[in-house]
Amino acid sequence: MGYNMKKNISIAIDGPAAAGKSTVAKLVAKKLNFTYVDTGAMYRAVTFFVLKNKINPQDEKAVCALIPQIEIMLDENNNVFLNGKNVNKEIREREVAENVSYIASYKEVRIFLVKQQRKIASCSSVVMDGRDIGSYVLPNADVKIFQVASISTRANRRYKENISKNIECSYNDIEEELKKRDYIDSHREMAPLKKAEDAFELDTSNLDVSQVVDEILKIINQQIGDLL
Ligand code: CDP
Repeated sequence: MGYNMKKNISIAIDGPAAAGKSTVAKLVAKKLNFTYVDTGAMYRAVTFFVLKNKINPQDEKAVCALIPQIEIMLDENNNVFLNGKNVNKEIREREVAENVSYIASYKEVRIFLVKQQRKIASCSSVVMDGRDIGSYVLPNADVKIFQVASISTRANRRYKENISKNIECSYNDIEEELKKRDYIDSHREMAPLKKAEDAFELDTSNLDVSQVVDEILKIINQQIGDLL
């Protein structure tokens, strides 16, 4: 008699900046009892390390030379650790947001983080959110969602999120930053932001969080309900 081995399942949620992916992905993961993996937080942690070491984020060679000094860990409560230190708060700072897309465009940085992301997905069932999960990191993901929303919806969501966290900001600056990041993320050479051919596109402009979660759970059930 063989063992009844249950296969690890992976759900990929991609989309542009501030489309609400992480809020929704966290809730979907909780509902399914899967591990949530915030890959954006990993790129943000590398960016924070670069800035902390006073390296110019646009100097690819200098940035990549730091990689051997970086260890990033995520725990089951969505905490992000950089070389053993919790950096949840620091990685949400404005300077990190403004520079993260440069760092994320470097091939060596991506290879370094993607390796870790694939390893996590090979050990447990995951809901992983990012830009290239369905198209590059986990091309065989069981379900792929591409979550979009209008630029004004996204800027408004990020503005409200910042205000609720007492992070000072202006709506116009946020809209500019999101547009700039979207542009860099979609035009980089390696694994750019794009919808995988087999991904479901979900426009969340007129949906609240619970409606998006319900929609995604519905898609998951239709696709792989028998595996859950
Ligand atoms: O939360 P928000 O939408 O602002 O962004 P994030 O998910 O924290 O990602 C921050 C940045 O990391 C993105 O703008 C991308 O430049 C980069 N990123 C990436 O290149 N690939 C991923 N899989 C995830 C994030």
